[in-house]
Amino acid sequence: MRKLKVGVIGLGFIGAVHADAIQRSPFAEVSAVCDANREFAAKAAGELNIPKFYSDYRELVLDPEIEVIHNCTPNHLHYEICRFSLEHGKHILCEKPLGMTSEETAALLKISEAHPSLKTCVNFNYRMYPFIQEYKARLQTGELGEPRLVHGHFLQDWLLYDTDYSWRLERELCGETRAVGDIGSHWCDLAETLLGSKIKEVLADLVTVIPNRKKPLRQQKTFSAANGNEPYEDFPVSTEDYGCVMFRMENGVRGVFYISQVSAGHKCDLKIEVNTDRLSLAWSHEKSGRVWIGRRDKANEIEMRDPNTFRFAGEYTRLPSGHAEGFHDAVLNHLNSFYRSILYPDASSADYADFASGHHIMKVIDAIVQSSRTKSWAAVTE
Ligand SMILES: NC(=O)c1ccc[n+]([C@@H]2O[C@H](COP(=O)([O-])OP(=O)(O)OC[C@H]3O[C@@H](n4cnc5c(N)ncnc54)[C@H](O)[C@@H]3O)[C@@H](O)[C@H]2O)c1
Repeated sequence: MRKLKVGVIGLGFIGAVHADAIQRSPFAEVSAVCDANREFAAKAAGELNIPKFYSDYRELVLDPEIEVIHNCTPNHLHYEICRFSLEHGKHILCEKPLGMTSEETAALLKISEAHPSLKTCVNFNYRMYPFIQEYKARLQTGELGEPRLVHGHFLQDWLLYDTDYSWRLERELCGETRAVGDIGSHWCDLAETLLGSKIKEVLADLVTVIPNRKKPLRQQKTFSAANGNEPYEDFPVSTEDYGCVMFRMENGVRGVFYISQVSAGHKCDLKIEVNTDRLSLAWSHEKSGRVWIGRRDKANEIEMRDPNTFRFAGEYTRLPSGHAEGFHDAVLNHLNSFYRSILYPDASSADYADFASGHHIMKVIDAIVQSSRTKSWAAVTE
């Protein structure tokens, strides 16, 4: 089978996850990498045993061997690298959020529509966990009843102290929202995927819990804890650490979720629960191999991930039951789905998130910001 030639730009936390997943995919291989930090790029090329590395993304995009670009850079570079890639004939997978503003994501969607032979993807990877795909399909059959409510959270603690710092705190690099754009965007995509419906109105309360932080004068790695003894400068924070959002979906389902990056003990604690007129279903990212099924008239159940009992999403799970699958595997599922749509455009079921999904979630984020500002319900405009 022919393998797509992929170039990965940005080799920080998530770039390394992408490189690992690409190397495990039967559909693609990493042919070149790029990071503004040339040392990172050289190290990654050595580890992946590939000869080509760049420190200027334009050189990687213009490399005639490269067919697919993975944009794993900080948010302020998403628009420019995606635009440049599409205009130079490359398929593009971008990290979330797709852009800094909905003006940027609308422009990217328009450029992608002008190049219909090129495929686009935004890495909302949580939708590709085996149980999410399995229960999305089971809910669609109607056998689990009519969904009424959806609720949950996404909690982290890596910004708990005022000495914790990352580029994500800087509006010019991250965008107008932080917690909402960074982790709320994942939660919204997950709820919409599971229920097969879109969020249409929101009522939000966003709060900057720590308004002043200590910015280290030396650059720090994302998610690494600072010891507080490094030289620093005072940094006023204008983006939210916490948010709570009520919402209504197009199918009539009502929901609520809250997000935080300052909740001690919570690492990547994403939880979602759906209540239908018959039962409840709860899934947690940190225990992703299980689904809790709540019932009123008989005992509750816990279903363990098992390829033998999956009826719809067998292709998303590879290991036998009891052998943990996780984050790397969900990313691989997402990449495989995207690559299949490039290699076999007529046969693909295309369940990955494309630029239209990325733009829609940016419009949900806009409505959340507007609602929090005006203290009233805001509609998601498309
Ligand atoms: N889908 C997910 O689950 C997930 C998880 C984490 C991060 N992300 C997203 O991935 C993106 C990157 O986040 P991260 O945590 O990996 O950040 P990071 O800071 O760990 O890594 C970013 C990398 O980009 C490089 N870079 C900066 N400017 C560059 C340029 N001009 N050209 C090439 N490389 C450049 C940096 O040197 C760094 O190595 C963000 O948009 C973030 O929202 C997604």
